[in-house]
Amino acid sequence: MSEAAPNALRWSVPARWYCDPDIYRLEQDRIFVREWTLIGFSPQMPNPGDTLARDVAGRPVFAIRGRDGGLRAFLNICRHRAARLVPEGAGHCDVLRCPYHGWLYDAEGRLRATPEFGDDSGLDRDRLGLVPVKVAEWRGLVFVALNDDAPAIEEGLGDLVRVAERFPLERFRWEDRTVYRLDFNWKNYVDNYMEGYHIPYLHPGLNRETDAKAYTVTPQDRICVHRAPTRSGATYDGLWLWRWPDITIGIYGDGLNITRIVPLSPAEMALEIDFFFLPDPGADERDRRRKMQWTREVVEEDFAICRDVQRNLASGCYESGPLSPRHENGVAYFHDLVRRALAPEVGGSALTAEEFDTIGDPIRRRRARRSMRARAGEPAASLLRRLQREQLQLAVLRTRSGAGTSPADPAPVAAQRAVCGMLRDALDAVPGAAPASGSLRPRGGERG
Ligand code: FES
Ligand SMILES: [Fe+2]
Repeated sequence: MSEAAPNALRWSVPARWYCDPDIYRLEQDRIFVREWTLIGFSPQMPNPGDTLARDVAGRPVFAIRGRDGGLRAFLNICRHRAARLVPEGAGHCDVLRCPYHGWLYDAEGRLRATPEFGDDSGLDRDRLGLVPVKVAEWRGLVFVALNDDAPAIEEGLGDLVRVAERFPLERFRWEDRTVYRLDFNWKNYVDNYMEGYHIPYLHPGLNRETDAKAYTVTPQDRICVHRAPTRSGATYDGLWLWRWPDITIGIYGDGLNITRIVPLSPAEMALEIDFFFLPDPGADERDRRRKMQWTREVVEEDFAICRDVQRNLASGCYESGPLSPRHENGVAYFHDLVRRALAPEVGGSALTAEEFDTIGDPIRRRRARRSMRARAGEPAASLLRRLQREQLQLAVLRTRSGAGTSPADPAPVAAQRAVCGMLRDALDAVPGAAPASGSLRPRGGERG
């Protein structure tokens, strides 16, 4: 990915990307299928036979704890006629029996029985096991990756692994969960989360406590770390971050919030907030309730503006906007990751990663297009005009000298062939161009 010049403005990704079903499908395939996705927490499944099931990028997945204590995960689809094997959420099953016609699988996903099937001599059970999915536990969090090529979990989590090192994630105990179903695109919510620019306008309570001018967002590898000094100048010893593409984590003293941002459709998402606290028999329950309520209130203060933004993004009256270098570097980083993930499908296969960096930025995009043209040489249309000029010149030459009409006149034929070769190369590089054959052959030169 190219570096923007110092002081160059960054621009948001196009408005269309927040509403277009094709972009939504691309994001599912190129972001959420490829990344490690949090499906739950290890304490939800401590014993053999415990399961966790949910949809990831529109694909049903479940994890199951084996007798060896390890986790395995599979597509939650029976190989007979596609019934869902394990109910959504946390559960337990001693045997994996399909609820539809009773096919039985073991915890390793092998097909064990097909009751009442009839003559099964043509049935190859070894090929009808459940489809495996990568699964990993990291510090009490359970992740799956639908992509077989996904890197090891520590690599997939980027700098989260390092910055979370000194926090005792495993010691926190789950306390409560709040789920919101929201009518805006998931990126709209991440954009909002990724800056403190709006705090003075949308979060009066938070603004009283924190110095929004000193609010910083620091992009690192696949995470953005937030810092908001208090007005009193005190610094908190916590961790507050977003991890690409869909998790936020906040650690504040004895409390931990883990939020999942779940895309549901181009203009719908769910926000799932899990609240955890350190075990403390003497803890003030009312104080903990107050803390959770305060978090919900701050989160909810953003919903109305995100709805308004979604409507305007979908209006067709807005394309893209400039991002504040002072406050929206986190948004710019997020948009870079989105552009990189969607390339090269978005905008046509002729664009390079450098051009994708400039999507939404009209000025840099024009410059990138000019440099692309300079790098690629003349475009096909220009070569066509040049070929026509050359053909005309050859015709003039033939008329004047009576030459160039047979292989016995090698010089003009060679020149014509060279021009045709250039045109063929140019057309080959243009998606959807007519195949460069037949009519592009130099007349006379191929015979004999
Ligand atoms: S769909 Fe599972 S047994 Fe028929
Ligand atoms: Fe906010």
